Amino acid sequence: MRKVLIFDTTLRDGEQSPGCSMNLREKLEVARQLEALGVDVIEAGFAASSGGDAEAVAAVAAAVKRPVICSLARCVRSDIDAAAKALSAAARPRIHVFIATSDIHLQYKLKMSRRQVIEAVRDCVSYAKSLCGDVQFSAEDATRSDRDFLCLVLSAALEAGATTLNIPDTVGYSTPAETAALVGYVREHVPGIENAVIAAHCHNDLGLAAANSLAAAVAGAGQIECTVNGIGERAGNAALEEIVMALKVRGDALGICTGVDTTRIYKTSRLVYAVTGSRAPKNKPIVGDNAFVHEAGIHQHGVMNDRRTYEIMRPEDIGISTDGMTLGKHSGRHAFESRLAELGYTPGKEELDALFEKFKELADRKKNITDRDLEAIASERFDRADIFTLDRFTVQAGNRSTPTCVIRLVKNGVRYEDVAIGDGPVDAAYKAVDRIISPPAHELYDYSIHSISGGKDALGEVTVKLRMKNGTVTGRGLSTDVIEASILAYLNAVNRMLEASDGENEQNRDI
Ligand code: KIV
Ligand code: ZN
Repeated sequence: MRKVLIFDTTLRDGEQSPGCSMNLREKLEVARQLEALGVDVIEAGFAASSGGDAEAVAAVAAAVKRPVICSLARCVRSDIDAAAKALSAAARPRIHVFIATSDIHLQYKLKMSRRQVIEAVRDCVSYAKSLCGDVQFSAEDATRSDRDFLCLVLSAALEAGATTLNIPDTVGYSTPAETAALVGYVREHVPGIENAVIAAHCHNDLGLAAANSLAAAVAGAGQIECTVNGIGERAGNAALEEIVMALKVRGDALGICTGVDTTRIYKTSRLVYAVTGSRAPKNKPIVGDNAFVHEAGIHQHGVMNDRRTYEIMRPEDIGISTDGMTLGKHSGRHAFESRLAELGYTPGKEELDALFEKFKELADRKKNITDRDLEAIASERFDRADIFTLDRFTVQAGNRSTPTCVIRLVKNGVRYEDVAIGDGPVDAAYKAVDRIISPPAHELYDYSIHSISGGKDALGEVTVKLRMKNGTVTGRGLSTDVIEASILAYLNAVNRMLEASDGENEQNRDI
């Protein structure tokens, strides 16, 4: 088996897509989880794009030591300086320089000639090399570029010191056969390419990203670039979980493996969904709720006799526990802690105390606490202490009365109470919160609610997304009471907005 490197760009290409913004703490949490998952390279951000990105790259570089930590940079010296500075604490830094090579990008975006592009590549890759031993070069829109020009650019990058050459399918245009042929062409026409790693970076506009990535790997690419849950520009990037599981399940046909610990895939996926405030479509390969569910009678019969009749992989392979054990109000701290550990969560003492308190609150309201409930509790985000928390609320609503909410919040031990009317109980509650906090101007552009597990006492999860002048924030709230979950989600988002405007992430594009 040949091993391909997994280059994860969830924190850069994934995070830059609409509605997927993460704050610094969340980026660090995702980076640590990616390290535990076993990816080879983490692209932590695009340092020159904003102060927030530079800070995130620096924080990941300081905290995460096993994988290579990479920052993106345009083919511009100031970008390369920003990347090198942000990576200064990294144990294994990589500067990733890119420029487009397709005529359409040269003419309409860069307004550069082919000769100018080659000169810029020579200059910038050698400059990056003078600052960092590990330099990756990407030819943006490679799959729509003139092949011979592409090879000239890649040769220039190689001569200037790049050790990884990436041929991205930036707009998800290629087919698997074309992708394989392009890798083969580059291998034949770039002298000395055997001294570099060829990378594939495929977008999913035609739903071919995973297939193209695998085709590239079979044709000789040594690095596959992907994101958790396939988040990314437009239709997203190639999904890490699809590529890794395809190579695990069909390694026999492909002859390739990865160093990823597949039993951590599910938890990683859930974490990324939690921090981006989104959910997997039920039928999403590998991580969707239905990925291991059998509905048709014939299928159920087959699976009861032998799971392999309709399952090509086991839920345990991606870290889903199948023992069906539940906890309840009499479960102690030890049982709670060890169940969390079995699910892959090992919080520190302080966080465990807070989680156990939440578990106890939930157990008072709900008889059986399932693994899905525990995962939801464990992936709750904890905010700073000096923020507004919910003390109590009362709503009055009905089809013939004006919805009203009285709410009491607490900050630094001080209580604040107000009342508001609204179009419904949630609207009234949000208006009452606004009256107390007076948050910066914003638009609530997304509100969603879903139940974590079945039954009338199911835990409800509300996600709200707010858009302000300088970015977006996501808030999440969990409760068996949907109004309470709605208030908690809004409060969580507003606190984040306040935290950001406090200055911590002042220059962030997305907060
Ligand atoms: O899609 C793309 O071309 C990219 C490059 C910057 C690598 O994300
Ligand atoms: Zn991309």
